[in-house]
Amino acid sequence: MIEVLDGLKDVIACETKISRIELVDGKAILEYRGYDIRDLAKNSCYEEVAYLLLYGELPKKYELQDFRIELAERRELPPQIIGLLTHLPQYTHPMVVLRTSISYLGSLDRLKDLKTREENLEKSKNLIAKIPTIIAYYHRIRIGKNLIPPTLELSHSANFLYMLNGLEPSRIAEKALDADLILHAEHELNASTFAARIAASTLADMYACVVAATGTLMGPLHGGAAQEVMKMLREVATPRRAEEYVKKKLEKGEKLMGFGHRIYKSIIDPRSEILRDLAIELAKKGNPIWFEISEAIAENAYKYKKLLPNVDFYSASVYANLGIPDDLFVNMFAMGRISGWLAHIIEQYESNKLIRPRAKYVGETERVYVPIENR
Ligand code: COA
Repeated sequence: MIEVLDGLKDVIACETKISRIELVDGKAILEYRGYDIRDLAKNSCYEEVAYLLLYGELPKKYELQDFRIELAERRELPPQIIGLLTHLPQYTHPMVVLRTSISYLGSLDRLKDLKTREENLEKSKNLIAKIPTIIAYYHRIRIGKNLIPPTLELSHSANFLYMLNGLEPSRIAEKALDADLILHAEHELNASTFAARIAASTLADMYACVVAATGTLMGPLHGGAAQEVMKMLREVATPRRAEEYVKKKLEKGEKLMGFGHRIYKSIIDPRSEILRDLAIELAKKGNPIWFEISEAIAENAYKYKKLLPNVDFYSASVYANLGIPDDLFVNMFAMGRISGWLAHIIEQYESNKLIRPRAKYVGETERVYVPIENR
């Protein structure tokens, strides 16, 4: 008897040294390279965590300084990519734009068929640095505004907000985005990372692997959920309507976006707790309404179906208060997750075995072939 594990639930598909998720005594542990995400989100900047994921160690001060400069110097886009962003229709979803641009970046990279560690790290820095510029530039182009070139003076997060909005962000906004990107940077064998590892296991080039990952992230059951959460917050519009909304949705058997998780079922996703704190912080300085509606929805989601929020739930109110348009939310996820994807692609290359599972055939068998004129 072949047992089919629906959705590969609880299947251990590979070994990894990149992140650890463990549920112990009613609490979830989530560590990147052995470091608790709470410590990283509180104390690190995104560049430091990207370094940790790629190199396996926290950088020393001078290493971090060099890494930040290396990333900052790679931020600007080749003219061909700017041309592509200008020519894509304005109605194209920004995540489709990102996926297409990454593919195009790959076609411009002469190193694409070589896979030494140094070259893979070179490509990794290029992708981490350029993804925020692709997102910000496309947004500026589609709303008919001038491009704001990246600056060497600002951090990864601050520079992104600067390129997007044309204003240097406050320290609080910069820190909040840093923490958000850190929390999205890595999460073991989630669907998009698995897609990246499958592509890497065929020895496809890094860009192909990242394109597979970006395509997979986009769906509403994965990274696309935060945009759906924002749609729900807008629909609910006031905390008073949250209970009725949640009840109706659940009665109709529909899913509440931003709730539930393959791993965190009755234990809360630790990322959502930290994001909730960030959402509170930003609500105090900005518009509190999104957080207030979120809280009312979360309360009722628990009351009526014991549902707990996942990473995408409070991300929505965080992004809204950072002035990020709704349809860029999944791009923000990609901007954070890119360093995790890259670390996994490199790990897969370095201990490769083609990933090729089996399927249990359940269709008809041994049918008699009928010539086309007789069907
Ligand atoms: N809203 C309502 N019910 C939900 C739910 C949600 N967001 N998430 C899970 N459930 C319910 C399912 O209906 C199912 O209930 P049932 O046993 O009564 O049929 C049960 O919880 C198990 O859910 P299931 O979809 O089988 O779990 P999964 O592990 O396959 O799926 C997700 C996990 C993330 C795909 C799922 O929770 C979901 O679709 N969430 C909404 C999308 C989202 O926020 N995605 C981002 C994930 S980080």
